[in-house]
Amino acid sequence: MPGNVFCICTRMAKHPETVFVCQNCGNEARKWIGQCPDCREWDTFVEERFRMSSHNSRLNPAGKRFAGREAVAFQNVESQEEARIPSGIEELDRVLGGGIVAGSIVLIGGAPGIGKSTLAVQMADKLSSRGLKILYVTGEESDRQVKMRGERLGLLAEHVFLLPETDLQTVFGTVEQMAPQILIVDSIQTMFSERIESAPGSVSQVREVAAQLMMLAKQTGVPVFVTGHVTKDGSIAGPKTLEHIVDTVLYFEGDRHHNHRIIRATKNRFGAVNEIGVFEMTGSGLVPVNNPSELFLQERPAGASGSAVTACIEGTRPMLLEVQALAGGSRAGTGRRMTQGFDHNRAALLIAVMEKRLGFQFGSDDIFVNVAGGLEIDEPAADLGVAAAIASSFRGIEIDRGTALFGEVGLTGEVRGVLQSAARVQEARALGFERLILPRSNLKGSDRMLGIRAVGVSNLEEAMEELFG
Ligand code: TYD
Ligand code: MG
Repeated sequence: MPGNVFCICTRMAKHPETVFVCQNCGNEARKWIGQCPDCREWDTFVEERFRMSSHNSRLNPAGKRFAGREAVAFQNVESQEEARIPSGIEELDRVLGGGIVAGSIVLIGGAPGIGKSTLAVQMADKLSSRGLKILYVTGEESDRQVKMRGERLGLLAEHVFLLPETDLQTVFGTVEQMAPQILIVDSIQTMFSERIESAPGSVSQVREVAAQLMMLAKQTGVPVFVTGHVTKDGSIAGPKTLEHIVDTVLYFEGDRHHNHRIIRATKNRFGAVNEIGVFEMTGSGLVPVNNPSELFLQERPAGASGSAVTACIEGTRPMLLEVQALAGGSRAGTGRRMTQGFDHNRAALLIAVMEKRLGFQFGSDDIFVNVAGGLEIDEPAADLGVAAAIASSFRGIEIDRGTALFGEVGLTGEVRGVLQSAARVQEARALGFERLILPRSNLKGSDRMLGIRAVGVSNLEEAMEELFG
C-alpha cells in the first residue's frame, strides 16, 4: 500500500514552506488575499512559514509507512471514573466539572487584567498546600513579578516553581527534569515553538504550542493550564481551532468594571458546559461567591419601573438575575433597539410579538435591554422576564419586588415550558420571592410549594394581566 495515500498534511507536501493564515479566524490560503473568505475581515492574512524538520513526526515522507500500534478492544478497555484532583477552589472545581482531570488541558481565557494570572497563582498555591508540585511558566511577567503578586495575596506556594521562559522546547526540558504534577503556562500567546517560524502569538504558533502541550498532557498525564487573551470581538486570540484542541475552555465573562468575576465553561469534555463560577475581586485576590443570586440582586432599585427578576439556569445552577429595560424617549426616526447580556435578535422578536399580540405601540421609541451585573443570558427561559421588564418600563408601572418570572415566549405570544423548572422555583423560594410567574405547563407540583405562590400562564397576555392587572 503506498504510504502517500495516508499523508496527513497535503498542504505541506505540495507547498512545503509557506502558508498564509488569517490572524482573525485561522483560515488558511496558498496565496495572500485581501479579504478573508471565511470571516470577511480585511487585511488579516499573514505569511507563516513552517520549519520542516526530521523531528516533526506529523510528516510522513511519501513512500514510508507509519509505525502502527495495536488497538485495544472496546471490552478490554478499563473503565474508570476520571481521577480528579480538587483544585481547592470550589467555584473553580464547579466549572471544571468537579476537579482537575489528569492529562487534561484547560484554557483560561479573558480580557487583559481580568484576573487570569491571579486565578492561576491562587490555584497553584492551593494545590501546593496539599503537597503537589507545580511548574508555573510565565512568559509575560518576570518571576519577581509573579512572586510579588503571590506575596500580596499572602500565598505560601511552597511547592510552586516559577520559570520565566517563552521557548516551549526549554519548558519541555524543565518538565522532564522536575516532573511537576501540574503545569501552568501563562500565557499561550507568549510561547513559541521553534518548529514554526512565525512570531509568538500568531495563529500558527498558538495552535502549534497548544497541540504540543496537548500531547504532553496526554502522554504524561500531567494536567496543563494555559491562559490566553481574547481579541476585541471576544474570541480567544488566535484561531478557533485552539478551542477545539483543548479539553476545557474557561472564560472570564463580563467586564473589568464590576467587582465580581464570572468564569464560564464554554467547552468541557469532562463536565457540563455553561457552568459558571462566581468570584469577587478583592484586595486579596479572587474570593468565591457562595450565593450569586444574592450578589446579582443586591443593587436592585426600589420603586423603579423597567426591572424584572428572571430565574435562569447557568450550567447546572439556578440563578436569579435582574433584567432591566428602558423603553421610550423617542426621537424622530427609527427607534434604537439595544441589548446587553441578551441576544439582540431575540429581543427584537419579543418586541414584535408584544406589538402584534398585545397591541403595544412602541413606534419609534428607543428600547434598551440590559442584564444587570454584566452576565450574559442565553436561554429562552428569560423571555418572559425581558418582556415584563420592557412592558413595565413602557407603561411606567413597577413590578412587585417579590415577583420573579421565567418562561419561553413563542411567536404567537404563547408562553412555553422550559427545562428544570423545579430548580428555578426552588431558587426563587430560597431567596424569599413570594410570587413566581411561570409557564402553565411547568406548574405541576410547583403550585403547592410552601412559601411561594406559583402562577401558571399560557400566554403573554395572561402574564401581563397577572403583573399589571
Ligand atoms: P491579572 O490576574 O494580572 O490579570 P490577567 O492575568 O488576566 O491579565 O489581574 C490583574 C488585575 O487584578 C489588576 O487590575 C489588579 C487586580 N487585582 C486585584 O484587584 N486584587 C488582587 O489581589 C490582585 C492580585 C489583582
Ligand atoms: Mg496575566
